[in-house]
Amino acid sequence: LTNRQGPTGIRCHGSGARPRNLGAMPATISVELATTAPKGASIGTGVVIGKNGPEIPSGVSLTAANLAARGFEAKPGQILAIPAKSGTHILVGLGPIGALNIDTFRTAAAALARAAFSETHLAVSLVETAPTRLDRKAVAQAVTEAVLLATYTYTAHRSVVPPRALIGVTLVVRSERAMTAAVEKGKLIAEAVILNRDLVNEPPASMTPRILTSYAERAAADNGLAITIFDETDLDRERLGGLKAVSLGSAEPPRMVKMVYMPAGAARNVPTIALVGKGVTFDSGGLSLKPSDGMLTMKCDMAGAGLVISIMSIIARLAPAVRVIGYCCITENMPSGTATKLGDVMVARNGKTVENHNTDAEGRLILMDGLSLAAEDKPDAIVDIATLTGAAIVALGTEITAVMGNNRSFTSQVMAAARSVGEETWELPLFPRYRKHIDSSIADMKNIGNAGQAGSIIGGIFLQEFVDGRPWVHLDVAGPAFVNADDGMITRGGTGVMVRTLIELIETFERPKK
Ligand code: BES
Ligand code: MN
Ligand code: ZN
Repeated sequence: LTNRQGPTGIRCHGSGARPRNLGAMPATISVELATTAPKGASIGTGVVIGKNGPEIPSGVSLTAANLAARGFEAKPGQILAIPAKSGTHILVGLGPIGALNIDTFRTAAAALARAAFSETHLAVSLVETAPTRLDRKAVAQAVTEAVLLATYTYTAHRSVVPPRALIGVTLVVRSERAMTAAVEKGKLIAEAVILNRDLVNEPPASMTPRILTSYAERAAADNGLAITIFDETDLDRERLGGLKAVSLGSAEPPRMVKMVYMPAGAARNVPTIALVGKGVTFDSGGLSLKPSDGMLTMKCDMAGAGLVISIMSIIARLAPAVRVIGYCCITENMPSGTATKLGDVMVARNGKTVENHNTDAEGRLILMDGLSLAAEDKPDAIVDIATLTGAAIVALGTEITAVMGNNRSFTSQVMAAARSVGEETWELPLFPRYRKHIDSSIADMKNIGNAGQAGSIIGGIFLQEFVDGRPWVHLDVAGPAFVNADDGMITRGGTGVMVRTLIELIETFERPKK
């Protein structure tokens, strides 16, 4: 059996693995601008609810009563396809006119793109439907993102790729020139989300620590970033005791990756944000082995590191005015004769000691080293992104990211960024009284709290020990990073959640107040 080559020549672990050039293939359709709908295209039109009910758009020959008879009430995202002279006319509900916001247009665009799956071309007039109180450029960007993300599919491992008729979407606008930059921005952001989805969806045999690292190398090369990679021979010298311990059970060597983006011509005191991602390419639980059902989706456990790599992959084109430092803590978590044991004590990069009470609470053990490194850079703020706790799914389900932090102003900044791109977050408190839950009888702390109690908060309280008091937010994406059903812009499997939020945060970043 031969092992094929990864994107930068790294050998795949396991037989038959098929490494590919992820993110480089056209995973989605093309989005163009025009002032009129192309011939033969199906037409997608938004329908708002006004004072007297659904307002029939011009060009639709049905009455409100006709629409009602077909069950169409113009509720947000509701679809009605009407055969027309050329192609199909697809109506999408936008809801009450007074409640229209950017998110309405995301929902509508995603629904239209899904409804048009079996058409070859769709022309969408949504942007001009937006009321003047909304920024039309922002609407155009949002519609572009929604169309590209809703039509994403992961077909890399099918021998027969299910056919999709839809090849292109045209945004019909009054002035192409005015909207070009917004559409290009939407495409760029969708590219990052799609790369994150591809990285997460790739099976663990072909997304090993070294292969994931090769995508960071590619991002760095493409974007002119400084990159530092610590490998298994550097762990002791760099005192990465947590990453080392977690990696001991695996045949695959771990990696700690640092990438630095510096804005062109920036002053020395340019605002700086550090991103730290959990990159467990497969979480078996280690010796505290997971049951099979819980292990099944654990290729998703590198979503946080994948997010950092995805943002770094577009950062030169995004060209934000802040310095962005990205850390990816990358390893497998496997059981074996060389695995770290319960009761073992490791020393984190910042010198704190941790007694291992459960090898399945491994994310915090690798992030403690990544966060320590990030804090040493003295950034203005740190964000970590991690599929950290099953408890976050219990608390908030799969559509809401759990947010924790140590600085009111920065936490609010992150949550506001999420709100503006239509990603849901909710804050959990890091009350100091729960610090005692991770007291250890022999070390500075242990890596789990009391069974069944505040599991996500305990994860946050643990991580807080490693940020050296710097403004920091912890995003626990265990729920929304990987889902089993399509829903609007979200597609099943890896979702790329928080990519858009963190891009927005980077672009609007302000140094947090004390
Ligand atoms: N990677 C898991 C968390 C997870 C669960 C992510 C489900 C996505 C979906 C994490 O490493 C883990 O196993 N956490 C443990 C922590 C516990 C041992 C304190 C958990 O949630 O059970
Ligand atoms: Mn685990
Ligand atoms: Zn994990």
